[in-house]
Amino acid sequence: MKSPNSLALIALLAGSLLIAPPSLAQPGDRYHRVSIAHGGASQHLPFSSLTAFKAAVEMRPDYIETDVQLTKDGVLICFHDLALENRTNVAALYPDRFTEVEIAGELVKTWYVNDFTLAEIKTLDFGSWFDPRYSDERIVSFQELIDLSRGKVGLYPETKDPDFYRARGLDIDLALHQLFVRNQLDTAEGQVGTPIVIQSFHESSLQRLRDLNGDNYALIQLVWEGQDYDYLSDAGLRHIATYADGVAPILRMVIPPNADRIAAAHANDLWVHIWHAEAGFPPIGYSSKSYMTYLLDVLKIDGLMNHEPDQFPL
Ligand code: G3P
Ligand code: CA
Repeated sequence: MKSPNSLALIALLAGSLLIAPPSLAQPGDRYHRVSIAHGGASQHLPFSSLTAFKAAVEMRPDYIETDVQLTKDGVLICFHDLALENRTNVAALYPDRFTEVEIAGELVKTWYVNDFTLAEIKTLDFGSWFDPRYSDERIVSFQELIDLSRGKVGLYPETKDPDFYRARGLDIDLALHQLFVRNQLDTAEGQVGTPIVIQSFHESSLQRLRDLNGDNYALIQLVWEGQDYDYLSDAGLRHIATYADGVAPILRMVIPPNADRIAAAHANDLWVHIWHAEAGFPPIGYSSKSYMTYLLDVLKIDGLMNHEPDQFPL
């Protein structure tokens, strides 16, 4: 955020205001009031499905968020889990293609994304987990999401499980960078109309992307209570500022009585974005819109991963 290239990106974005949705950066501010459609418009549609992504594009958030995983043939797909069985019918279609892993002393069957080609993954029902009406949904490749979003909204991918892929000799961060290079989205100029923000719980992933492409991607450190390091401490925030542009904790970590962490992050020149689990959002007494207004205007959070981009307060 402090470097010349990032400032150039912000200037380019500010310069594109005439054709951009009104929630995008306002001149002179710190690039706040950012709407990030988490898994698309996923409040009433299957998370990370083509239907949810298409609906989100129409609602014009600033970014569409997706998790990314890597297939056997090296294709990035928009999928949250490392394995396919919880949200698809992979066990029924490919009963023998599992790996056995030990969990709490028991052998459990799992069907890793990385053991299937994109063509195989495209045969899976990726909608019935949500509602049988969506049984025709297929897992979306990240290239498909780029094609859907280009020139309309930004992209906010999350690198998942880089250590799992590294252990297999694969580099999911490099795969993501190479896909952006192929799509000419690796430079500030290429990102006009489709800005790129990359998020990860894994500091190593963000460091790798910074090494690969300098400050041409905005980088966000994801945070939750289960991490070994206290990223929201004063020292933790100073540390994040050495390799990333912002921090995105789970919402409960930065609401009162911990809201002082927002100003502490800003003092380190970091954007503060949040994510949340759907349960308990919004709290009783608020609508989605009024609660998002509170988070932005009272707590001064800069960006919200949300499931209802049409309710985002402009
Ligand atoms: O990207 C923010 C959020 O999706 C991270 O949490 O549980 O989905 O990995 P989780
Ligand atoms: Ca995510």
